[in-house]
Amino acid sequence: MDANEFRGLGHQVVDLLAEYLEHIEERRVFPAAGPGAIQQLFTEPLPQEPAPPQAVIGELETKVIPNCTHVGHPGYMGLITPSPSPIGVIADFICSALNQNVGAYSIGPAAVALERRVLRWLTDLCGYGPEAGGNLTSGGMMANFIGLKLGRDAVTRDRAQHEGVHENYAVYVSEERHVSIDKAVDAIGLGRNALRALPTDARFQLCLDALEAALAADRRAGIIPLCVIGLFGTTNTGAVDDIRALRRIADRENLWLHVDAAYGGGMLLSRQWPMRDRGLELADSITLDPHKWFYAPLDAGAVLVKDQRRLTASFGMRPAYLTDELDEAGERYQFYVHGFEQSRRFRGLKVWMSFKRYGARQIGDWIDGNVRQAKLLCALAAEHPEFEAACEPPMSAICLRYLAPGLAADEARRLHARVAQRVEESGKFWISTTELKGKSWFRVNPVNFRTRAEHMRGLLELLETEARAALREKA
Ligand SMILES: Cc1ncc(COP(=O)(O)O)c(C=O)c1O
Repeated sequence: MDANEFRGLGHQVVDLLAEYLEHIEERRVFPAAGPGAIQQLFTEPLPQEPAPPQAVIGELETKVIPNCTHVGHPGYMGLITPSPSPIGVIADFICSALNQNVGAYSIGPAAVALERRVLRWLTDLCGYGPEAGGNLTSGGMMANFIGLKLGRDAVTRDRAQHEGVHENYAVYVSEERHVSIDKAVDAIGLGRNALRALPTDARFQLCLDALEAALAADRRAGIIPLCVIGLFGTTNTGAVDDIRALRRIADRENLWLHVDAAYGGGMLLSRQWPMRDRGLELADSITLDPHKWFYAPLDAGAVLVKDQRRLTASFGMRPAYLTDELDEAGERYQFYVHGFEQSRRFRGLKVWMSFKRYGARQIGDWIDGNVRQAKLLCALAAEHPEFEAACEPPMSAICLRYLAPGLAADEARRLHARVAQRVEESGKFWISTTELKGKSWFRVNPVNFRTRAEHMRGLLELLETEARAALREKA
């Protein structure tokens, strides 16, 4: 492809995407075609010969775009994937063209410097001091894994990296954790049975007396408490644990305190419901995902650590083929020495360009808009005799259930799943289902700067229609 072809094709793709974004609301949120039909579109053998670029773009237009889940559509209120900020989309295009490999300074000097600045913005937002550091990651799953590994290494006084895990340890978190915590406990060598998933109160916050009881029981059994995880915005309801109390317990018990703010970190930009006074800065490490509620396109997660020397203690290996022998002053910051990943894309660019273009204030306004929408849906449900909300949403995640008296738990679960499926089939909205304290719920979560109040009204109307229809269908 020569420069002229690149230019022509690039302009064509920008026009296509501008049109796509401008008219996104006219599309179905979710494709009408089923998984079999979509798979049938992609059965071609490995191409041996080149095709004209127009043919390739033609396939994108006919096969890929119509069969996407249009997460930028204002009716998408499902699993936490935002409407991507348009400048973030452009940043990712630039990022691929430059193909900087942020793992090593020699493959991206400006990218390394920029990404360190982005990490500083994030650590400042959390209230950390100048000795804090971090890494941009593929997402919250990887960030939670790194946070727990930092905890394991700190508590074992940097022995586990070399000797493995030989003692019985335990990790504590609320039952409302994201599954990434379970995977992380496994990945750091403790095994999933080492995780204590503790009860929550009526607002889905970790019960501190349950934590105290679990710590005492483990100590009596000769199990060593290693880490406690606070949730700053649970996936289901946006609940925030009492981080200050967790810090006090962690200090007393010599635990690492990791806080999962993968989703809830967005609230640090809220001006209407500020949450910068909740003690997040007391955590030893934090997960905070720009690709959730800072509206960055995938992927951009982050793990932040109060004392960046812990990153080096956990990951600081320098193979000869990567070492800059002559950088005796250590001026060339090597992310690979201070993090788990090596080759990785220049994730910082889209976060940096988004903050530059919109400013924290505009992004905070989008966040406040999403919280208002969740609170509106909660108020509408409270007035409706057929719906119940799990709790007043502190963020933009809200769980609702349809009240169908006389349905057994299993039937209620199927009803909620069927209604969510009917909503998907409508093409107007996309929501998910979940379980809270043994009951089934619709989970609605606008993380979307195109969503408006009218969409919440429209969603509740549709839920009412589809729930009634699903009940009739069942009868
Ligand atoms: C609270 C929380 N933590 C972690 C994750 C995992 O993040 P990711 O999907 O970016 O890996 C999620 C995902 O929704 C989440 O809600």
